Amino acid sequence: MAFGGIVAVDNLSFSVQPGEILALMGPNGAGKTTTFHVIAGVHAPTKGRITFDGHEITDTRPDRRCRAGLARTFQITQPFDELTVVENVMVGAIAHHRSMADARVEARRYVDMVGLSERADILAKGLSTGQRKRLEMARAMATRPKLLLLDEVTGGVDMASVPGLIELVKRLRGEGLTLIIIEHNMKVITELADRAIFMNRGVRMAEGTPAEIARHPEVIELYLGDGDGHG
Ligand SMILES: Nc1ncnc2c1ncn2[C@@H]1O[C@H](COP(=O)(O)OP(=O)(O)OP(=O)(O)O)[C@@H](O)[C@H]1O
Ligand SMILES: [Mg+2]
Repeated sequence: MAFGGIVAVDNLSFSVQPGEILALMGPNGAGKTTTFHVIAGVHAPTKGRITFDGHEITDTRPDRRCRAGLARTFQITQPFDELTVVENVMVGAIAHHRSMADARVEARRYVDMVGLSERADILAKGLSTGQRKRLEMARAMATRPKLLLLDEVTGGVDMASVPGLIELVKRLRGEGLTLIIIEHNMKVITELADRAIFMNRGVRMAEGTPAEIARHPEVIELYLGDGDGHG
């Protein structure tokens, strides 16, 4: 995937199995979010193909991919600030329902699932960062995905909220979802991921179990050596 002269993701090829949690990791600018944009259909890949659930979707529109069961959350959360929490989730649920009332009932279920029951009827602009990440997940879940892409769900949230978010992702997997998570926090990766791909400058540098990745010399040097991987 190239933007003008910048090759943001170079020759990256991977697959994820049903029920698996795959982590994408790597320093800032590694190409992780761009990879999600390509999978979700925001950017067409300069080269290569994407298949989902046995079908090629390389040229499929983003909304069709969503209807086929592919959902994602955004690194920078972007709820409708002037809608309530449950109304934001209804936006995801509406495709599956004839009436708004039914969409609301289903939306409410996901609001409860992500732990926002108490906040269901406040405007989204009143949420904290961690709560906005939960809202993103509820909105994505309401589209009834098979594959969910989570872009830095623990990024920018206070440490105290991280264990709850880990539990939530485990619960989503328990619902039968396949997940690809972009994550900087090695502890989160170790707790959640079956497999991790470490990228740098658009290139896959290592792939393996979280334990294998954590031992990889390039990972240690580039990522773990200077703190938390940011910077
Ligand atoms: N729309 C765009 N136009 C031009 N360059 C872009 C665009 N989007 C991303 N890039 C560049 O592509 C590269 C990869 O960016 P990307 O956002 O995928 O990184 P990332 O791994 O998600 O980083 P971070 O950890 O900071 O979120 C960077 O060099 C970035 O500047
Ligand atoms: Mg990113």
